[in-house]
Amino acid sequence: MKKGYFGEFGGCFVPELLMPPLMELEQAMRDILPTKAFQEELDDLLHNYAGRETPLTFCPTLSEKLGFELWLKREDLLHTGAHKINNTLGQALLAKYMGKTALLAETGAGQHGVATAAAAARLHLKCTIYMGAEDVERQSSNVRRMRLLGAEVKPIENGSRTLKDAINAALRAWISEQETTHYCFGTAAGPYPFPDLVRGFQSVISREARAQMLERTGALPDYVVAAVGGGSNAIGAFHAFVPDAGVQLIGVEGGGTGEPDCLNSCSINLGRPGVLHGEYTMLLQDEEGQILPSGSISAGLDYPGVGPEHAYLNAIGRARYGVAYDGDALEAFQALCLNEGILPALESSHALGYVLKHAAEFKPGSRVLVNLSGRGDKDMDIIEHALGLK
Ligand SMILES: Cc1ncc(COP(=O)(O)O)c(C=O)c1O
Repeated sequence: MKKGYFGEFGGCFVPELLMPPLMELEQAMRDILPTKAFQEELDDLLHNYAGRETPLTFCPTLSEKLGFELWLKREDLLHTGAHKINNTLGQALLAKYMGKTALLAETGAGQHGVATAAAAARLHLKCTIYMGAEDVERQSSNVRRMRLLGAEVKPIENGSRTLKDAINAALRAWISEQETTHYCFGTAAGPYPFPDLVRGFQSVISREARAQMLERTGALPDYVVAAVGGGSNAIGAFHAFVPDAGVQLIGVEGGGTGEPDCLNSCSINLGRPGVLHGEYTMLLQDEEGQILPSGSISAGLDYPGVGPEHAYLNAIGRARYGVAYDGDALEAFQALCLNEGILPALESSHALGYVLKHAAEFKPGSRVLVNLSGRGDKDMDIIEHALGLK
């Protein structure tokens, strides 16, 4: 495959001023990532600081109701509450080895911001987080956590005031700060080499899950299901299973309220190819190619694009991409709380929501592995409000 591309998707469509730091990063990935010193230090951080390996949890009550085995990969149990820390520890450590003194990052749900702030504090790097003003409002507990961890949070008032606009602001800031600063990109999207870099750090999810399934059940899962925002937890959950032809990979996009013409985040299901944030991928866009606003009850899924590897896996039919609506996620959230005693993030609730709603699609007696990308504490206000409890 052409460097930086997944089939026709991917690439590096950035202003000339961003090429030097991207090339510097590519060089660091070649020279630093494979070294024993880097790998040992990262393993130690993941194990002793972040809490890897994460458990694989069987759900007895829901499995009984559904007629197939429901297994969860528990990324919600990681330090800071989501899979995002796998990537931020990797990138922060790489930045340190590259001699950088600061990190900047975008965030949507705030989980990537919190994970970046924690990694920066741990490794003594200055940290600035760009966040859409709407997300600052709806994920306020994460904003407080970032600030307490020493990060500066910059609310972005442009455009739809969500993740897309935060990425634009962060890319602009990186142009002027590239000498000292690494852009700790939060998902498996953006210009090359970010999709490869982030996939590399997140694929620990599927490496562990594959071995754990074999050890616990003597077999691979029949299905792996994950929610897709930019695509990092899903590509991390899929990667080690891609060569296993018998394992069906299902990504789940946020469908919004499900009302006619509602805002949604279905870039694969409803988008067309185009360029955004440095990559050629599936995008929500109008006739003229203008990016359409996205929408979802879950801030982490609220993005009009998707990482290029998902666009490719969809195009070649190796993965398929379904839709869960806000209501499906809320039902799944309640089902997991009440039946299994686990409070999932709204993003992860979309993956589970798809499985619960489309239970008839899954073979009776089969093994279904859902990546539980994060915990739901950050979403409690939104959920209580939506359920009429507040
Ligand atoms: C818990 C959780 N899951 C999923 C996502 C979606 O991002 P990605 O598609 O990169 O995994 C986010 C984004 O903030 C998140 O916080």
